[in-house]
Amino acid sequence: LASTEVDISAVAPGQIITVKWRGKPVFVRNRTDKEMAELAKTDVKALRDPQTDADRVKKGHENLLVVVGVCTHLGCVPLGHAGEYDGWFCPCHGSVYDASGRIHAGPAPLNLPVPPYEFLSDKVVKIG
Ligand code: FES
Repeated sequence: LASTEVDISAVAPGQIITVKWRGKPVFVRNRTDKEMAELAKTDVKALRDPQTDADRVKKGHENLLVVVGVCTHLGCVPLGHAGEYDGWFCPCHGSVYDASGRIHAGPAPLNLPVPPYEFLSDKVVKIG
């Protein structure tokens, strides 16, 4: 399928679900206020792949993160709610991503990519 529709109303705050898009896992994460407050403290200029959290989400839906769940090092699937930033941790070689999917440590060169997506309504997101 070229695109995947996801019912995000079932994704509770703090929850991450994994959906398939073009044969790849995509993580959909409903970030909590506490997680958002932590992300706001990030020194973006110090990041390996500098992007603000706002660059990675849709305006008005800042709590919802959609990222391709493939480590940018060698393609393993990172584990959610893991690692120093409670974002993702890649068990293959130890890359550490934050709750915005941005790389902080380990060998991965880039942030987890944000796929093309749009809100069809407040409850449904179309990926692709
Ligand atoms: Fe993720 Fe190597 S594939 S750290």
